[in-house]
Amino acid sequence: MQDTVLIIDFGSQVTQLIARRIRETGVYSEIVPYNKAEAAIERLRPRAIILSGGPASVTESDTPRAPQKVFELGVPVLGICYGQQTMCAQLGGIVEPSTTHREFGRAFVEIKAPSPLFEGVWEPGSRHQVWMSHGDRVTHLPEGFQVCGISEGAPFAIAADEKRRFYSLMFHPEVVHTPDGAKLLANFVHKIAGLSGDWTMAAFRKKAIEAIRAQVGGGRVICGLSGGVDSSVVAVLLHEAIGPQLTCVFVDHGLLRAGEAEQVVELFRGRFNISLVHSDASELFLGKLAGISDPEQKRKIIGATFIDVFDAEAKKVGGADFLAQGTLYPDVIESISPSGGPSVTIKSHHNVGGLPERMHMKLVEPLRELFKDEVRVLGRELGLPADMVGRHPFPGPGLAIRIPGDITREKADLLRKVDAVYLDEIRQAGLYDQIWQAFAVLLPVRTVGVMGDGRTYDYACALRAVTSTDGMTADYYPFEHSFLGRVATRIINEVPGVNRVTYDITSKPPGTIEWE
Ligand code: XMP
Repeated sequence: MQDTVLIIDFGSQVTQLIARRIRETGVYSEIVPYNKAEAAIERLRPRAIILSGGPASVTESDTPRAPQKVFELGVPVLGICYGQQTMCAQLGGIVEPSTTHREFGRAFVEIKAPSPLFEGVWEPGSRHQVWMSHGDRVTHLPEGFQVCGISEGAPFAIAADEKRRFYSLMFHPEVVHTPDGAKLLANFVHKIAGLSGDWTMAAFRKKAIEAIRAQVGGGRVICGLSGGVDSSVVAVLLHEAIGPQLTCVFVDHGLLRAGEAEQVVELFRGRFNISLVHSDASELFLGKLAGISDPEQKRKIIGATFIDVFDAEAKKVGGADFLAQGTLYPDVIESISPSGGPSVTIKSHHNVGGLPERMHMKLVEPLRELFKDEVRVLGRELGLPADMVGRHPFPGPGLAIRIPGDITREKADLLRKVDAVYLDEIRQAGLYDQIWQAFAVLLPVRTVGVMGDGRTYDYACALRAVTSTDGMTADYYPFEHSFLGRVATRIINEVPGVNRVTYDITSKPPGTIEWE
């Protein structure tokens, strides 16, 4: 059984970061909501446990708790923020609301006693920046605990029971605003829990291939390829596992970026020799989208048409027993979270829901355990080209949600050209990898311009570029004005039909990344 660190989630916004930091140390980690922790402990037999932060207050009644078993397993336990408080409360300490010394955001801790948790990182007597976000504080430690560090508002900012290997932090070591936090987490898994750190992508690849073979047996698998990183990695991994039992279907809705369809066909058929059906369905999609302006309706039409086309192509190749999907770990966590995920639909479902039910197929989801950046590492490990692995995310509905208003082939062609110029300039400036996502939007507005001696009345476009770590929040990218000027000049010179360029400086929230 592989060494696993179990993270019990109490609903903090940054729980996923704990898992990522742990995995960066080469140790596998999984997140489980607190109310499902008991079963996860049985299943995973974790070698260490981390209790996450969370919005609740242990000073109220009926607040979330860790299963008491956590403290009886003999494995090291680290409590962070709310995790610290519930740990102390559950072990007999006292937690009180702090009205006068609430600490949110940047704070400093002073180290009072040595601990393996910060061995080689923090010396007693030194002071360090950390990130706090909690209003309650521990006022009496449980028996066996000793103070290792204090902050202005918290007499027990860091406390530990070294004998039982229980550690508690009032701050978040997983966020970048605690500059040494990753080193503390590494100490926790390596020095305290004694885990070696042999969870690598090479090891994952081997294990995933065995798991796919065991699940699929002699069955046939069909895999939808979109040209994006996730489905590409799934396809190559499956091909390595089951070779000719795999057929990929690439539904081309005519709303892809310039050159994308050709690249997909060349890469999978040409380079990887994967059996690939390329279905050019652009007429069908554009026909169904004609005259439709409402964003949700566009998404629904594309989703439903995609399923029809995919289903028909699958039947043509004789059907399959399994459907492969590039589901990632954040989707899995969201679907099992105590609240059941976000309650408001901002935009309708991102992935193609309904396909497995309609096609009566079982799912193969070999990336379920991985974060996006880990999928990229796996892609490189599998020999996918660097430019494909590092590619910006591209939404399933494609350019349709970057053309506000009704969609025509002419508009899609214009947008493809604008987008290609923009991305070319970004690549030439060496900025592509610093940006989460960059793309152009064709606006449903014509504006007056002047070119040479003539008047023009053409489309305006908007350029968008954002930085982000997970797509959930984003900031606009602060291009230099000279760069934006150069891009605008090239677009207007090289794309007849567009005579005005604007730059979108909205962050998310309140904006979303895509315009629709
Ligand atoms: P928003 O626009 O919601 O986008 O801020 C967040 C991230 O999700 C991508 N996105 C989609 N991806 N199907 C997808 O596969 C979709 O329908 C879809 N809508 C948005 C978006 O490009 C960004 O990376």
